Parts: sequence; C-alpha cells; structure tokens
Amino acid sequence: MAREVWNTRVGFILAAVGSAVGLGNIWRFSYMAYENGGGAFLIPYFVAILTAGIPLMILEFGLGSKFRGSAPMSLKRAKKSFEWIGWLGVMTGFIITTYYAVIVGWSLTYLVNAFTLGWGTDTAGFLFGEVLEISESPWVLGGFAYKALLGLLAVWAIVWIVEKKGVQGGIEKANKIFMPLLWILLVVLVLRGVTLVGSLEGLEWYLKPDFSKLTDPKIWIAAYGQAFFSLSLGMAIMITYSSYLPNKSDIVNNAFIVSLADAAFSFTMGFAVFGTLGYMAAAKGVGIQEVVASGVGLVFVVLPEALNMLPGLKALTAVVFFLSILVAALSSLISIVEGFAAAMMDKFEMSRSRAVDITIGMALLGSLIYATKGGLYWLDIIDHFVNNYGLLLVGLFEAVAICWVYGGDKIKEWVNSYSDIMAGSWWDIATKVFLPLVLIVLLAQETWNNIVEPYGGGDYDIAALMVGVGVLVAGIIISFIMPRIKKEVE
Ligand code: ALA
Repeated sequence: MAREVWNTRVGFILAAVGSAVGLGNIWRFSYMAYENGGGAFLIPYFVAILTAGIPLMILEFGLGSKFRGSAPMSLKRAKKSFEWIGWLGVMTGFIITTYYAVIVGWSLTYLVNAFTLGWGTDTAGFLFGEVLEISESPWVLGGFAYKALLGLLAVWAIVWIVEKKGVQGGIEKANKIFMPLLWILLVVLVLRGVTLVGSLEGLEWYLKPDFSKLTDPKIWIAAYGQAFFSLSLGMAIMITYSSYLPNKSDIVNNAFIVSLADAAFSFTMGFAVFGTLGYMAAAKGVGIQEVVASGVGLVFVVLPEALNMLPGLKALTAVVFFLSILVAALSSLISIVEGFAAAMMDKFEMSRSRAVDITIGMALLGSLIYATKGGLYWLDIIDHFVNNYGLLLVGLFEAVAICWVYGGDKIKEWVNSYSDIMAGSWWDIATKVFLPLVLIVLLAQETWNNIVEPYGGGDYDIAALMVGVGVLVAGIIISFIMPRIKKEVE
C-alpha cells in the first residue's frame, strides 16, 4: 500500500498547527498560568519551548520524514531495538486521547448552552452538578453523567468521520477549514477581552514576571510538561504527520513555524482569558487571584461566570469562545487518534478503515470511565501522571536513543538537506546534552515531589494515585510487548 501524503506543504503545516493548538493552549494553559502565578509561568514556558520543544520537534519531524513510518515503525527503522519507544509514544497518546475526548465533549455541551447562556448564574453548580454530576470520591463512579456522555459520543462520531476519509480527504481538509476559522475567533476574543473595563489588571497580572518564583522547581516541571503537551510531542503525532510529507521538505523551518505558532496562540489567548478575568475581578471589586479557586474549572466555571457579567454581546462572545475551544480541540484529538491508527496500519498491515474503527472503538471504551460521575477525579489524576511523566519520558528516550545511539548527525544531515534554517551545533547541544539532562532532573524532582507531597493536596487517597501510576506503568509494559508481536511489513 502506498503511503498517503499531504496535498501541499501548507496542508501539512495547518494540520501540525491544528494538532499542536488545542485544549492545551486554552483550557490547560489558562489554569497552568493561573496556578503558577501568571507572569511567573511565562518565562519557564517560553524557555521550555525554545530549549526542548523546538529541538525535539525537529527531531520528531526528522524521524518521520526520513523513515516514513508511524512512530514505532520510524524508530524501528532507525534501530530495531528502538521500536518500543515509538509504542511508548503511541500508548501515551492513547491514554491522553481517552480523557481528551471527554473534555472536548464538555466543550460541545458548553457551546450548545452558550447560545442561551444556559449555565445560569451558578456556573460551578452547572459544571459539577448538571454536566459532570460529580460524585463524592473517585471510588464512587455512580453511573454515567448523561450530558458528558452525550457530548463524548458526538465528538467520537465527528473524529470517526474525518479519520475515515484519510490524510488528504479528511485531516488536511478539516484543518484547512478549522485553522483559519480558529485564528479569526482568537482575534475576536482578544479584541473583546482587552477592551473590557478592568481588563488591564488581569493583563498586568498575566504579563508581569515574578523572578523570585523561578527558583521553584514545580514551575519548571509544569512548564516543560505543558510545552510538550501543547506541542503534541511525545505522543507519536508529529512523527506520524511528518511521515506523510513528500520528499524534499523543509523540516527545520516547518518545526519553527509550528512551534512558534503554537506558543503565539497560547500567549495571545492569555490576553482574552486574563483580560476577561480582570474585568470580572474589577466588577466584583476583588483582586484577580480571588476570582477563581479551582484549576480545571477555570475555563468551564469562571469564564462562563465572567461571560454572564459582560456589558453586552454575552451570548455571541460565549459562542465564539466555546466554538474556538471545540475547533482547536477537535483537530488535536484527530491527530492523537491518527498517531495510534497509523501505528496499527503499519504494524498489522491493516487498511485505514479497519485501523480507525479499532482505534476509535478502543479509545471510546477507555473514555467511558471519564464520563461517569467519578470521572473528573480520574481525569485529573491520570492527566497529572501522563503529562508529568509519560510525555517527558518519551522525549528523553527519543533524544538519547536517536542522538546518542543512532547518531544525531545523520538526522541533522537529513533535516538540513532542504531547509532554509539549518540545525547547527545548537541543535546537537540541545538534543544530546540539554534535553536529557533537564528531563532527568525534572523527572527526579517530580518523583521526589510525589513522594513527599502526594498529588492533589490530600484530595485523593494513595490507592487512587496508585491507579494513576498503574495506568502509566501498564502503558510502558504494553510498549515492551508490542515489538514482540510479529506480522508486519518491513
Ligand atoms: N497539543 C494538543 C493540545 O495542546 C494535544 O491540546
């Protein structure tokens, strides 16, 4: 079977930006910035993008375009014993897919409600009571929360339709519509956010650096985890997407364009979010730190409350806001599914149609747990472990395996063959020395943090946290098993 290819370079860039820009840039970035002190977070975040994000994206684009395979296949073609690293990326992506789809489902529910501001005045009650019907602990699943379930099923149906149509007819076409629309929505939201009375206070808090916080390792871990998540690195996606590039593609430039577009999106979206929060804080006569307590709920609790309080165009702004989340997140979800489906196609010589059915079937089953009444707890726990360990581990193994064992020079030569910008010795230093060192330190630090101060600040018992660890360990074990299963094209 001939490998599918992108129709145009722009098509590839749009799809890669579509993958990168997602919940990570809006839902996750907003509360990460919020929890880590606004402006204090921006410096580590940009440092992470420049020092780890861009070099690793060049590496992943290089691998995919050179070896023309899904993540496991590309790594295997570099060296047979590396296949498991590709599967680790696939498994990490798969775990993320299962809860990611649920949040996209919430966004759809919110979009439907945005037309009438259907969340009412008690926005926390709407999210936790009506949409999630949250139970009292992770151990009480309590059946499905039907609004969440309905949104989830609708989202899977959309992804299934696009994925079935393939690289050009589905993914590329969808992104050609989604991406321009998304940037237009962004501009509308920013203009709205920054012209509100009181927005300046929010923006000042968002932009003012706090150098004293830079000594806190937790901010750095959060920043690197966020950069990887947001750039879709370590999830098998970028290797897969670049495997559909025609020969003679400009790899380094593409990696810069995609990474910088992603970072620019998050940064700009921050103006809309924090401008609007600043407005709400001013209207309530409180400081910006006081308008929100919970992280995950920032976009789904606090922003709806702020939207209720707007001086005009409330429903319109709300629709634009949730439409932007939905559009951004759908294109990312499609890409994570593609990373898994492509691995299935390569490994088992399967048709796209069959691989997509199996992938979405399994992902749908996996995601059902998060649509139960206890689902939010599991989502929070698993997101924590997968992001702070899974993605960083994949990045670490890729960098060490390729740049130290396989030979970083061979990839460098390849990526430089048709590039305007060259990967020079800065890239060697970044991937060979800096990236592995930083990731090892961060992983060690994170392990220490989890031991001395278990995640959730006492909200979860140790057994629940162990399930989070268990899911990650299961992903690692499966990654080792997959290469031992035979039946594939060489
Ligand atoms: N990169 C995707 C996001 O940021 C997964 O949501």
